[in-house]
Amino acid sequence: MTTPHPLPIQGTPWPELERELADAAKNDVAWRRGRAPMFIHYAGDDVLDVAKQAYEMYFSENGLGLRAFGSLQKFESEVVAMGLDLLHGGDGTRGAMTTGGTESIMLAVKAARDHAREQRGIDPGSARIVLPYSAHPAFDKAAHFLGLTTVRIPLRADFTADPVAMAAAITPDTVLMVGSAPAYPHGVMDPIGEIAGAASAHGIWMHVDACVGGYIAPFAQKLGLPVAPFDFAVPGVTSISADLHKYGYAAKGASTLFFRDAEHFRHMGYAFDRWPRGQYYTHTLVGTRAGGAIAAAWAVMRYLGEAGYLRITERILATRRALEAGLAPLGLHALGRPELSILAYGSPAHDIAALSRGLMTRGWLVGNVTAPPGIHMMLNLTHEPVVGEYVRDVAAALADAPAAGAEPVIARY
Ligand SMILES: Cc1ncc(COP(=O)(O)O)c(C=O)c1O
Repeated sequence: MTTPHPLPIQGTPWPELERELADAAKNDVAWRRGRAPMFIHYAGDDVLDVAKQAYEMYFSENGLGLRAFGSLQKFESEVVAMGLDLLHGGDGTRGAMTTGGTESIMLAVKAARDHAREQRGIDPGSARIVLPYSAHPAFDKAAHFLGLTTVRIPLRADFTADPVAMAAAITPDTVLMVGSAPAYPHGVMDPIGEIAGAASAHGIWMHVDACVGGYIAPFAQKLGLPVAPFDFAVPGVTSISADLHKYGYAAKGASTLFFRDAEHFRHMGYAFDRWPRGQYYTHTLVGTRAGGAIAAAWAVMRYLGEAGYLRITERILATRRALEAGLAPLGLHALGRPELSILAYGSPAHDIAALSRGLMTRGWLVGNVTAPPGIHMMLNLTHEPVVGEYVRDVAAALADAPAAGAEPVIARY
């Protein structure tokens, strides 16, 4: 039973609430000290301040009402235009903001389903999505909500998607194929060109999940890294999800979903008029949208500009390389070939569950990879100053004998 906690009869003054709010966080993960390997995308206090101030200025405005709030319409269309420019969107490409990666993916699945029903006569009840084993669970969540079936295909030895096996899994009911740029578990880029090639040969919608990479991979490419093309530059890519609240460094509640053309974009929205209030239309899954999240994304993109994103990208990539270099002498190596900001590492020679426990007891929140056993980190600037400390704690944790019979650590989120 939940503890009874009625709404207080009398209100509480703000100073007391402020104290309580601060106090409530005392046992939260110390993310500012780099202890959170996920959930946070910190790019400096100056960036946070811009996001907070822009958010506050549009705190009450509602992204559902773009007719009422021309300001938000302008911000959203400029954010979309900047995102499309980064992802090689040419004439005719379209897009919109959503509240996060899961919503972007949900709407991409919905659009692919409705497009296949209209163009190919595929019954949604038998429609299938072919995706790599490493794709984000948001696709299965979307399939569950929308009545589709997913078919997850095993990865290659380097943990990238296997385009040949994916092509072999295509059936007449396949409405969507997926590749990640990069996939969350190992941080590796899938072979987008080959997956898109197989999809377009069969007239199938291909979605690139660039929720993690959408706003960092373009800058890695501009820095001269050999990140393979993954966006609209690749023929056959139909839609792309890219999260602003990850490596766009925007306030949480901001992602983008892009489409190759207006015909595909059309299937993102939903219209209804069989109620007494006339026509209702949204291009998003949610109705009301935080105006603050839209304004903050616009402000952060304008504040940083290409130069700012390049500087942050360079520092995050250097942090990942420093971690890899520090862990290698301990016999711990990257799983696959990480190219961006995610490092998953492990070794068959080490008890990863024991290492995870050792890190947790030293105050580090640990995210685990299960296939193969490994430790997962999605890096940001909070990790930059703690690489040495982290590596020393890994060494100390490895030196500890594993506690006999202890339960393996499974990260949940
Ligand atoms: C590759 C990928 N896609 C989608 C998502 C879902 O994003 P969100 O948590 O914003 O809904 C994530 C989240 O980490 C991700 O890593």
